[in-house]
Amino acid sequence: MERGNFGTKIGVILATAGSAVGLGNIWRFPYMTGQDGGAAFIIVYLVCVLLLGIPGMIAEFIVGRHGAANAATAYARMGGKRSWAALGFVGALTSLIILGFYSVIAGWCLQYLFASIMGNLSGDAAYVNAYFTKFSSNPVEPLLWTLVFIVLTHLVVVRGVRKGIEKMSNILMPTLFILLLVIVVVSCCLPDAGKGISFLFKPDFSKVTKSVFLDGLGQAFFSLSLGTACLCTYASYFTRQTNLLKSSAQIVSIDTLVAILAGLMIFPAAFSVGVNPDSGPQLIFITLPNVFQQAFSPVLGYIIGILFYALLALAALTSTISMHEIGTSLFFEELHISRSKGAVIETLIAVVIGMLCSLSCGAVDITVFGKSFLNFCDFLTSNILLPLGSFFTCILVGWIAPRKIVKDEFTNWGTVSQGFYGIWLFFIRFISPVCIAVVFLHQMGVL
Ligand code: TRP
Repeated sequence: MERGNFGTKIGVILATAGSAVGLGNIWRFPYMTGQDGGAAFIIVYLVCVLLLGIPGMIAEFIVGRHGAANAATAYARMGGKRSWAALGFVGALTSLIILGFYSVIAGWCLQYLFASIMGNLSGDAAYVNAYFTKFSSNPVEPLLWTLVFIVLTHLVVVRGVRKGIEKMSNILMPTLFILLLVIVVVSCCLPDAGKGISFLFKPDFSKVTKSVFLDGLGQAFFSLSLGTACLCTYASYFTRQTNLLKSSAQIVSIDTLVAILAGLMIFPAAFSVGVNPDSGPQLIFITLPNVFQQAFSPVLGYIIGILFYALLALAALTSTISMHEIGTSLFFEELHISRSKGAVIETLIAVVIGMLCSLSCGAVDITVFGKSFLNFCDFLTSNILLPLGSFFTCILVGWIAPRKIVKDEFTNWGTVSQGFYGIWLFFIRFISPVCIAVVFLHQMGVL
């Protein structure tokens, strides 16, 4: 069976960075930073990204490129036993669940983009608050936007690796970066913007509690798309010349830069109008429309609102594409059906999960273990399946897989990055699994 691959080096970086850069950077990172006290949280996050994120990303790349197949087969080939395919299946399932709830939030972004264009978001704080509550608990509208988003994702993925994923990433990522820079510049020029900037860069270590570590690690993994076989699937489209260490360093840098820029876009504007950015997940849907109106002149506020929600939707799309591709390639290769049929199966399941998540936000009472279905899916994936996936990937690559294969993949058969191999191996064998296990057990209440 002919497999696709990414055509250019920049295509590799932009597509994979496109997976990493998403709502995690522009929605989750700012609200976490706002909740967890600013700069101190950012330092914890950066340490997690550097010490655990980069090594973990390389490990998944190794599994994917060596396997040159969908996640299940790639894991089985790395482990030398079919039973390791289970890890690929769990990864694909995790991404499918993430795709479901992520599309709901992405659908809200589309709705807010539409509402901004129509000028429906202008009003006082109480109005914006009521708008969100009314919209998110409406049974039909958010559901339709979720569907629109999943269908958009489907339309890109179905076109294949080069013509769909790579081509879209090459267009969307630079556009996203320009939008982001424009809003950052405008936001940082506001009166009192300095307060927001120092919130981001001046750490207050009294704010660092245990939960900041948990949040930092979870955020690092989510933001880098780690632990769900996503990076492994993309790496199966890399060529033998792709330098895994260098690529992961570049992707991680882009992802981190976008997160920091998202902070520089949101906090100066919030502080400039005296709004505290600790409102949690609702930050970008309730606090921000308000901030935009107060901080800018009506025309500028209107334009910035549109640019902001367009930015969010684009960032979300490059990420949902990657989540979708994991299942699509798995169905397509494992069930020996066409790529488009594989994509249809993935889309149908995602639609069911997305609908349940969307309805659970107020329209219908769908709760699991006392959480709304959407929050339950988020918890199950981010806090349980994602760390488990990463943990077992470290065990597989660090302890089970033949050392020669791992070294050859890391160094491109002895041609690059030889000096870093030992350090990386040490991290993947000892540091990463121990850190992940400690955080996981602590979260489960065992430690
Ligand atoms: N990293 C993306 C973000 O920050 C989300 C994402 C894409 C993801 N693919 C993933 C998260 C796979 C976990 C697993 O928005």
